[in-house]
Amino acid sequence: MPRIAYVNGRYVRQSEAAVHIEDRGYQFADGVYEVCLVIGGAYWDEEGHLDRLDRSLRELEISPPMSRSALKSVLSAVVRRNRLKNALVYLQVTRGVAPRNHAFPNPPVPASLVVTAKPFDLEKCEAQAEKGVAVVTQPDIRWGRVDIKTIGLLPNALAKEFARREGASEAWLVRDGKVTEGAASNAWIVTKSGEVVTHPLGDEILGGVTRQTVIACAEELQIKISERPFSLKEVAEATELFLTSASNLVMPIVKIDGREVGRGAPGPVARRLREAYLKRCALTPA
Ligand code: PDD
Repeated sequence: MPRIAYVNGRYVRQSEAAVHIEDRGYQFADGVYEVCLVIGGAYWDEEGHLDRLDRSLRELEISPPMSRSALKSVLSAVVRRNRLKNALVYLQVTRGVAPRNHAFPNPPVPASLVVTAKPFDLEKCEAQAEKGVAVVTQPDIRWGRVDIKTIGLLPNALAKEFARREGASEAWLVRDGKVTEGAASNAWIVTKSGEVVTHPLGDEILGGVTRQTVIACAEELQIKISERPFSLKEVAEATELFLTSASNLVMPIVKIDGREVGRGAPGPVARRLREAYLKRCALTPA
């Protein structure tokens, strides 16, 4: 069955879908995106993703391409038309098409909207979580507003490619000796004293939707979370490391820069949070 994409008002075969060569997303990375998880046909944390999309658009002064309810209809239609039960949905909004000029088009032009979906293998993700994954560290060379989920992801792509070549699945980005986040995920440690730590919100990280839900899960489990920067030294001494993102949920890390974490197996805190996250999302109707 051909994959179907939504492109500026039309549902088209993905292999035939196209955008204009003067789309500002293509020329300037002048756009934002979201990746949402769909399980059993229902969006997880949909409102959280749409809230963050609104924020990203506002920060860049891009007008939303349509209302939230219309966008939700498009999102459901893409999943339905692709006959997917478990999926990762990609949604991208750019400032639109205009003759190349760095300053914004004046008057503004309509934003471009593209939505695609691909199958998500939950069993494979579960199997990976049972084993845990490896990460490597890389310098954080990104710009100063990574809280905006822009499509300008070259530093992230370079870090992820470095990780791939090292046989790891993610790169943890380091600035001034502190881990900010992963190339495409948020970063967490569990200290020897049992403190669960993740970088605070601000310009230096993307406020992950999964991160926020995991914090809510931790509260329910009465696991205290500290939102503060943590150093590479603390990483080296941590009993557990894990990462969170829409495509990984809560993923234990068992190796960093070739060194084993703890006993080299997923730890109890990551396991509990993953279970709680799965349970919570399954209970939240889209
Ligand atoms: N990445 N930090 C960065 C830099 C990210 O790109 C992502 C998500 C996250 C986690 O955010 P969330 O929990 O809302 O997925 C943190 C997506 C999955 C991606 O780019 O594919």
